Amino acid sequence: MMRTHYCGQVTEKFENQTVTVSGWVHRRRDHGGVIFIDLRDREGLVQVVVNPDNAEMFAIAERVRSEFVLKVTGLVLLRTSETINPKMVTGKVEIVANALEVLSTSEPIPFQLDDKHISEEVRLAYRYLDLRRDEMQNTLKTRYKVTRSMRRYLDDNGFMDIETPILTKSTPEGARDYLVPSRTHQNKFFALPQSPQLFKQLLMMSGFDRYYQITRCFRDEDLRADRQPEFTQLDIETSFMSEEAVMKMMEGLAKTIFQEGVGVDLGGDFPRMTYAEAIEKYGIDRPDLRIPLQLVDVADLLQDIDFKVFAAPAKDPLGRVAALRVPQGGKLSRKEIDDYTKFVSIYGAKGLAYIKVNDLSAGLDGLQSPIVKFFPDQVLEIMQRVGAEDGDIVFFGADKAKIVNEALGALRCKLGEDLGMIEKEWAPVWVVDFPMFEMDDKTAKMTAIHHPFTQPKATTEEILNHDEPHQMLSRAYDLVINGIEVGGGSVRIHDTHMQAAVLKLLGISEEEAEEKFGFLLKALKFGCPPHAGMAFGLDRLVMIMAKRDSIRDVIAFPKTQSAACLLTDAPGSVDNVQLADLALRFRKALAE
Ligand code: AMO
Ligand code: AMP
Repeated sequence: MMRTHYCGQVTEKFENQTVTVSGWVHRRRDHGGVIFIDLRDREGLVQVVVNPDNAEMFAIAERVRSEFVLKVTGLVLLRTSETINPKMVTGKVEIVANALEVLSTSEPIPFQLDDKHISEEVRLAYRYLDLRRDEMQNTLKTRYKVTRSMRRYLDDNGFMDIETPILTKSTPEGARDYLVPSRTHQNKFFALPQSPQLFKQLLMMSGFDRYYQITRCFRDEDLRADRQPEFTQLDIETSFMSEEAVMKMMEGLAKTIFQEGVGVDLGGDFPRMTYAEAIEKYGIDRPDLRIPLQLVDVADLLQDIDFKVFAAPAKDPLGRVAALRVPQGGKLSRKEIDDYTKFVSIYGAKGLAYIKVNDLSAGLDGLQSPIVKFFPDQVLEIMQRVGAEDGDIVFFGADKAKIVNEALGALRCKLGEDLGMIEKEWAPVWVVDFPMFEMDDKTAKMTAIHHPFTQPKATTEEILNHDEPHQMLSRAYDLVINGIEVGGGSVRIHDTHMQAAVLKLLGISEEEAEEKFGFLLKALKFGCPPHAGMAFGLDRLVMIMAKRDSIRDVIAFPKTQSAACLLTDAPGSVDNVQLADLALRFRKALAE
């Protein structure tokens, strides 16, 4: 038998019993005459003692090195009180070996497992070793607990797990597709799914009523700490449920996985916030409500002042002038303010005006600022509007609304962290009433904010005849936790005419629509139930649950920022025969 127990489970319960454990040598200490080995497996460590009385076994133990794989049989004995290790679950006992077998040897590994400063490149190149570390074992265990809990919740609520294709056609989630050339249909390509959106809608049309799948999605987009080219969604769709009912069910799911995954109680009903309110107060559609700071509009007071930096955006319908009051921020030094000014410039802000509130009772004289002189008549009203108190600092952003929102929105979170203003550990919020469409700055074309299968809050007639489509709202909802969008969904269009109207508004011609998702448009004609759904980003959820800063830390084999796998060296080259099979050829010959 290879083992009777996991190393990490051999506690004082097994006193005086003989056990067999197998695992890796975590540490080996030679105490002149006695050898101690900490043996490690998935469940933890246990101390093995090898005494010199068995010369043959002792000789083997002397040759053992870190990361050798051993099988040990021995008697579990209590440690003497002075050798108890209270930090270890198995710290009250040790296994006194009476048989020891080396199952596998190991070369010296390229880094120490408990070294906290290993570069990510090295960790990813030797991911199989990196994953041996406690931390990584724990996050992947958390991830498994979360998916198990998701499945249980959905199974209990009548959802069916159904798979959908990976080799498929482009799905419009707004990113670039990963393409796979077809050998059997030359010059044609499969696209890897950006999500199973269209298939899950078809499953509703097939009558499955409640579907879920934990599935991979592929998006070729610029990567960030919370974005991977392939990531995992918990994908869900329901028929005959209102958005209220869907959101309630999804909220139940979120609470359940937090409870079962990491023992966190997310509390009562999640608050709801409209998109408009989120932008107004937080500058972003995924507000981090752990931080109490808010943006306040002040443009109406500043339209007629001489200071152009503020007056111009105050008058511009696309502009914004907003204030951000930071309680007790008056203590920020000149250097710190300069650093924050640099920080907002990343978002395109041209400056960061501020007023330090030294003594409000002294009126203008109690304010310290390079800009007060430009609008002395308005400044006290502004102070009142933002609720300024002595000791505060009030920052200002003035520019196109997009720049002000991004700059002050990010500054708000940075200040919240830097000044220790995070008020609570968990802050979930539903964001609702998204606009249906937005103008893409680069192409000057309308795009769907969620996706083009989302129902607008409008009739087909209104969609066709709307003068200001960007004002139209959609029946979409996002779940945001601690400033991270962990999931999103919507009520879908279940009527051919409405779907055609939305595609028309998006400037997608009938031919293009037919070519891209003709199958869906046709299916809509054969009895389509009202349906709605949602997808959770599993990696992001686990990232925040496990309190990690990068989703790479919660994925067993992730890709780097440049979408490469350092372990396998993917993407790799292919040979000319493979290319010829696919009727592909490089535009430029590769250097030999
Ligand atoms: P959406 O595009 O909002 O919706 O995706 C759903 C959730 O998936 C996560 N996510 C990502 N996680 C890691 N890396 C990425 N590149 C990435 N992109 C998205 C986010 C996001 O909230 N079909 C719709 C859902 C629906 O309408 O039912 C969809 O895919 O957490
Ligand atoms: P200036 O007149 O350019 O010296 O700017 C005066 C103050 O306004 C400085 O504190 C700048 O950082 C700030 N400032 C300049 N442009 C902006 C802007 N677009 N938004 C907010 N503050 C700004």
